[in-house]
Amino acid sequence: MGSGLLLVPLAAGLLLLAGAPRVPACPARCRCAGGLVDCGGLQLTAAGLPRAFPPGTTEITLQGNNLSSLPAGLFDGLPGLRRAHLAANPWRCDCELLYLRAWLGAQQDRRPYLDLRCAGPPPLRDRLLLYLGPEELRAACGWGGCSQALGVQLALLGLLLLHALLLLLLLRRLWRYRALAREAQLRGGAAGPPAPGPHPKGEGRAPA
Ligand SMILES: *[C@@H]1O[C@H](CO)[C@@H](O)[C@H](O)[C@H]1NC(C)=O
Repeated sequence: MGSGLLLVPLAAGLLLLAGAPRVPACPARCRCAGGLVDCGGLQLTAAGLPRAFPPGTTEITLQGNNLSSLPAGLFDGLPGLRRAHLAANPWRCDCELLYLRAWLGAQQDRRPYLDLRCAGPPPLRDRLLLYLGPEELRAACGWGGCSQALGVQLALLGLLLLHALLLLLLLRRLWRYRALAREAQLRGGAAGPPAPGPHPKGEGRAPA
């Protein structure tokens, strides 16, 4: 009994430890020194980027990678971040770039970012990132571009249709059972006294 009581706080402590948010270490393959995180020249794509940087990061180098966009919110947990090196990446200027465009626009000193240019899509190639309006980025997606949002909407629509179909089938079956029950009741009424239960069982079953 006594040892059992001791186990409870121990288990709670272990659970707390397991659930505690871990402080992100230096991302794999990057070099970290003080507040500097250098992930330059690693052929990183947006999907291969670290999900988080150490909270004390003040400067991030992503220069010379294969980045066409940045995941939304990538820099959000870094209150000390003053500078990001973003040059020499094939930025694709469509709605996937809205986060980076907003982050750039929110910087006090935008001079380091004045020469960032779009590598695509063709109508926006070589345009300066800082001088692109959010509506231009959104328009660049159209129907084919932001397939993720479209895919989610189509999936939701499909689910809705499936629900409607299932409901329809259920209602049809219910109607058929009610009709059968009524028929059975009528037949029972003609033969003699009404059946005792509300659901006349043997006669109510659908013919095979
Ligand atoms: C990165 O870009 C270079 C040059 O365009 C290309 O040769 C390489 O295959 C790309 N790497 C990845 C991982 O996409």
